[in-house]
Amino acid sequence: MNLLVTGGAGFIGSNFVRFLRRERPDWKVVNLDKLTYAGNAESLPDARDFVHGDIADAKLVERVMRGVDAVVNLAAESHVDRSILGPGVFVETNVGGTQVLLDGARQAGVKRFVQVSTDEVYGSLGPTGKFNENSPLRPSSPYSASKAAADLLALSYAHTFGMDVVVTRCSNNYGPYQFPEKLIPLMIANALEGRRLPVYGDGLQIRDWIHVEDHCRALLAALEKSRAGEVYNVGSDNEWPNLRIVSRLLEILGKPAELIEHVKDRPGHDRRYAIDASKARAELGWAPRIDFSDGLVATVDWYVKNRGWWERVRTGEYRTYYERNYGAR
Ligand code: NAD
Ligand code: TYD
Repeated sequence: MNLLVTGGAGFIGSNFVRFLRRERPDWKVVNLDKLTYAGNAESLPDARDFVHGDIADAKLVERVMRGVDAVVNLAAESHVDRSILGPGVFVETNVGGTQVLLDGARQAGVKRFVQVSTDEVYGSLGPTGKFNENSPLRPSSPYSASKAAADLLALSYAHTFGMDVVVTRCSNNYGPYQFPEKLIPLMIANALEGRRLPVYGDGLQIRDWIHVEDHCRALLAALEKSRAGEVYNVGSDNEWPNLRIVSRLLEILGKPAELIEHVKDRPGHDRRYAIDASKARAELGWAPRIDFSDGLVATVDWYVKNRGWWERVRTGEYRTYYERNYGAR
């Protein structure tokens, strides 16, 4: 297998490349990544088969696609708060970049294209029910709207050109190498530095958490076992209100609850996500394996042991972002 992974210097991508090196050691895995603020050469398992570039660069994509059997597209602008501060680049990368990749894959005769998406395309739930693959798309942030657009484009290439495209929609991931602007790593890093933990609004918003390695296993199963043109939800039935997670992190770290600070809510904040992953379980023979309490302790431990990794990214551009996002709350 000659696989192209995009976004392999990011959180899920770098975990996925590492996972493949272990699970499919004979595969050639080329990693195309622009190394934006969220991409980190230090997250890569090694520099083997790394191409530094933009998925929206058609000439580069044409060159990289030669001889590729399958694509897993993880490259994206991925943070809701940043999409509120500046939506433009979300459209350029998530929509425009995906279209360039789809064209490149089509021209090169790539056999399978996995578009990695998110449960956020479905919008927000009330207190009950879960998203399934037939739930209407009602994205509420510029991030989720750009991901929904990319999903629809990808599926249109299956419908119109007969391309073998599969879309996966996963819930919130946690684990090692996650950029410390997302909830769990941000709260761990702030607590370790004795800073305040900024909880948006009442903190009773609910997310459905899955360990990144369980997501990686689902992506491999989607690549190898899914049906063309289908959508698969991925999640591990693990709903938590944000405030409970933040309190649990403080408990694990032995830090005082007084560090928590309720700040102004995110505009348009989705109240609850919950994923019904029964289709992936039945058709892909996939099931999550990592228990949340174990996974959370291991994740905290990783951030404690790899302080250099997150301290280095919390400089320069990060500080400017932090000031813009939290300064006004
Ligand atoms: P991330 O922000 O940590 O990593 C994204 C990577 O993409 C970075 O390495 C970045 O350099 C790269 N990238 C950005 N723009 C690029 C471009 N134009 N060309 C090439 N590379 C580019 O994101 P993540 O959390 O690892 O998410 C990966 C994918 O999974 C995204 O598509 C996201 O929508 C999806 N997803 C994430 C989650 C989650 O909880 N993190 C859940 C479901 C789906
Ligand atoms: P996040 O990790 O940004 O993921 P997403 O918005 O894609 O679900 O946020 C997870 C939840 O945590 C979300 O409800 C927003 C909330 N949150 C805070 O309360 N404070 C913060 O500083 C951050 C980054 C997120």
